[in-house]
Formats: sequence, C-alpha cells, structure tokens
Amino acid sequence: MNKVIINSDIEKGTISKHIYGQFAEHLGRCIYEGIWVGEDSIIPNTKGIRNDVLEALKQLQIPVLRWPGGCFADEYHWKDGIGPRENRKRMVNTHWGGVVENNHFGTHEFMLLCELLECEPYICGNVGSGTVQEMSEWVEYMTFDGESPMANWRKENGREKPWKLKYFGVGNENWGCGGNMRPEYYADLYRRYQTYARNYGDNRLYKIAGGANIDDYNWTETLMERASSLMDGLSLHYYTIPGDFWKGKGSSLQFSEQEWFITMQKALYMDELITKHSTIMDKYDPEKRVSLIIDEWGTWFDVEPGTNPGFLYQQNSIRDAIVAALHFHIFHQHCDRVHMANIAQTVNVLQAMVLTEGEKMLKTPTYYIFDMFKVHQDAALLSLETDIENIAVEDFHLPKVSVSASKNDSGQIHISLCNMSLSEKTDVNIQLRGVNKIAEISGEILTADYRNAHNSFENPEAVKPENFTEFTLIDQFIEVSLPPMSIIMLSVKE
Ligand code: AHR
Repeated sequence: MNKVIINSDIEKGTISKHIYGQFAEHLGRCIYEGIWVGEDSIIPNTKGIRNDVLEALKQLQIPVLRWPGGCFADEYHWKDGIGPRENRKRMVNTHWGGVVENNHFGTHEFMLLCELLECEPYICGNVGSGTVQEMSEWVEYMTFDGESPMANWRKENGREKPWKLKYFGVGNENWGCGGNMRPEYYADLYRRYQTYARNYGDNRLYKIAGGANIDDYNWTETLMERASSLMDGLSLHYYTIPGDFWKGKGSSLQFSEQEWFITMQKALYMDELITKHSTIMDKYDPEKRVSLIIDEWGTWFDVEPGTNPGFLYQQNSIRDAIVAALHFHIFHQHCDRVHMANIAQTVNVLQAMVLTEGEKMLKTPTYYIFDMFKVHQDAALLSLETDIENIAVEDFHLPKVSVSASKNDSGQIHISLCNMSLSEKTDVNIQLRGVNKIAEISGEILTADYRNAHNSFENPEAVKPENFTEFTLIDQFIEVSLPPMSIIMLSVKE
C-alpha cells in the first residue's frame, strides 16, 4: 500500500501564486484570433478582446501574464504597436510562419487584457535587435507619471495615468533566437540594458535576466557570477518533448504506451533541472534573493497535421493534464527558489488552456488542472513523507503517484494526487499528522478512459472534472483509490 504522511503543522514555505502564470506570444493564433479579434469582429468582444476566452481565463485566476514573446520579443519594436491602429506599421513575423503582423495588439491592448483578467503584466523587452534607448523609453512610456516625452505620448494615446509594471524581462533566449550570444556577452548586455530600465515614482521593476536553455549550467553560472547583484530573477526554459526536437517531437494524440511513459519521465526531469540550477544560484546567492523564473514550460509536440508548421498548434489530452500536475508539484517543492512559472502558451499554441476555431472555443484538459490547482496559490507548502511504489513497466523508474499538499490562510488543506499509471488503479493511505479530526472532506477528479482522451470541437466536454468520492475516512487517515490516468484534488477542513 502506498503511504503518505502529511505533516499539517510543518510548513515549508509559500507556494507563490505566480507559478500559475501564463505566457502569450505573437505566435500563430495565440494573440490574433485566440485573444484579439478586433472591435468590429462578429465574435463578441470587449474592446477587441474576445469574451469567451476572457471569461474562461478569468476563472483560472491567472496571477501573471508574460508577453510579447518568446522569440518574438527580440524583434518586437514597441513603438510600432501604439497610436491609432490604422496607422500602425505592418511587419513580418519572421520567427513564426512569416505572416504579417499588423501591430493591432500592442502595449495598450495588452495592459487592458491584464486589467480585465486582473493579473499582473510581465513584459519582455528587446535586447536582440532593439537599442538600450528603445527599452528604456518603453519603461518610461508605461510607468512615468508626469511630464516627459514618453509619458506625454502615452497620454496622447489615451492613457493618462501610468500603468503599474513589476515584472520586466531583459531579453529572451539570448543564447538562441534572442541574438545567439555567449553568456559572457549577454551578461554584459544585461548589466547595461537593465541600467536604463528605471524605477519611476513608486513603480519598482522586478528585473528578470534571460536564463539558460534546459541543462546549460554554464549559462546560469556565468550570469550569476557576473550580474546577479543587478537582477531579481533569472529565467529557465524547458519543454517536455517525448521525441527529438529537430527530428520529430511526437504526436499530441497518436502516441504509444512507451511514449506516455517517456513523456512522464521527461516532465519529471524538471525537478533535476531546478535542483541543479538552484545549486549554482546558491553559490552566488545563498539568501535566495534572486528567483528562478521558469517562464517557458509545457509539452511541445509536432503540429496538428495540415496546420501551419510555424503556428505550433497542438491538441491537448489527459497526458498533458498529468504533465501540468507533475510540474506544479515540482514547482511547489522548490518554492524557496521558484517564484514564477509561465506555461507556453495560453491560447492555440503548444500546451494551451483553450483552443479556438472561428467563433468556437473549448477548454483543454490542461485548463482544468490550472482550475483545480488554483487553491494552492499563495498557500503554505506542507511537509510530506512518502512511501510510493514504482510503476511496473520495464525500463522506467516512475513512481505510481505524485502528491503535494498545502494549507491556506483559513487553515483548509488541499491535497493534489496524480496517478501516472495507464492501467492500474492505485490506493494511497494518507495520514494527516497534526490534524485532530477531519470535519469535512470533498474531492474533484480529472480522468479519462483512453490515454489520448481530449476535447474536440465535436466533443468539447469529453474530459472535464467530476466530483470524486472514492475515499474513506478514519480519524486522521484518508484512504484514496486513484483510477489510472487521474488527477485528484482533495479539500480538507479540520
Ligand atoms: O514558446 C515557443 C518558443 O519557444 C518561444 O518563442 C521561445 O522563447 C522558445 O524557444
């Protein structure tokens, strides 16, 4: 029998709500069609932002939204995206499909989206092809309250008061699409660019340096050694790709049992990456002042057959939901260093929350994980002891179950459990040590009968959460029976 002891009276830190963040890039149909349809669209919208997507995303209580890229950020020139829309410059989105970008969704539209979602903006500036002055003026445009060329321009464009902007990225993937730089060179550029990203009035920027790709520990070492005193966060990008990035990533829906387990193993690799990058950071920052910001993560499969290869459109199944749950458990575990994470990406791109097709919209299995897990936001991580069997599949060392628990301000405990097995029901005995008597318990489950179960426009509710009651309660013990391929959230009141 699998055993879990939850020490309800031992808190290990706060699970920053920002790990439940999102990332929306000018890529494929994420911004255009997925979020922005324009004020004249037949799709119901609020000042150009489609209402159905807005409503769906509001429900997730998104804490922070990263924009405009990604690779797009390092060729984005913000001045092209302000002022009357009909006069805005049209450009080629060279990274993503070579399509025309009409700049109709710019700074004002993004800030409006954040206001409507009640989330914090996280803006990524252009280091790769932009100047220091351009980045500096963007910050002035957004945050300066008073008389200045940029603040006056903002007012002319209809926004009197400055916006509050905390999270600011100084470039993206500068080892690759953001300029193909060496870490030494980028570290110097980071130092220079961030100097002129000023704090105006009481606005305080939280500056995030472009971090490593996967296991490029030398990048983290160099950045920490040379620039950590000037940053608040350092990023890390890692995607779960069952196949090979260049030769074939694997299909989002047509995958074997073997690929299921490879995907799980690759998702769990995030733990090793965070541990090793954090260890390097500890050397230069033992107080953990600088956060690790995982501002791109999620599954990356081959695009859906027949779709534009530059649009990164993929379906989303119960496998993606489990990958998301595993990532959250890992981020919780590292709450002392990981302050923010942003899944790639919000709509129609990679591991999306929602998919759209013209006027239609559906919620993906991943959406429901964000919804179920939001109870962990800003709650205290509880200490756990586990004794969990491994899945009996040759060549894989995977635990049957992944678990995490938190306690919120009202003393309510939330326990999330995830069964990675494809066919085995798994029983778990949970002891809530430190709890005298459980007064109330309820559960919610996301599961499916097929490993590629997903929501389609023909059947948009094939995978959705249900009420969960497969548990028994004896004093401070809960015995839970987890169906294969399931994610469960238990809410417990003392
Ligand atoms: O999320 C898609 C792309 O992946 C981003 O633009 C880039 O930063 C990363 O390589």
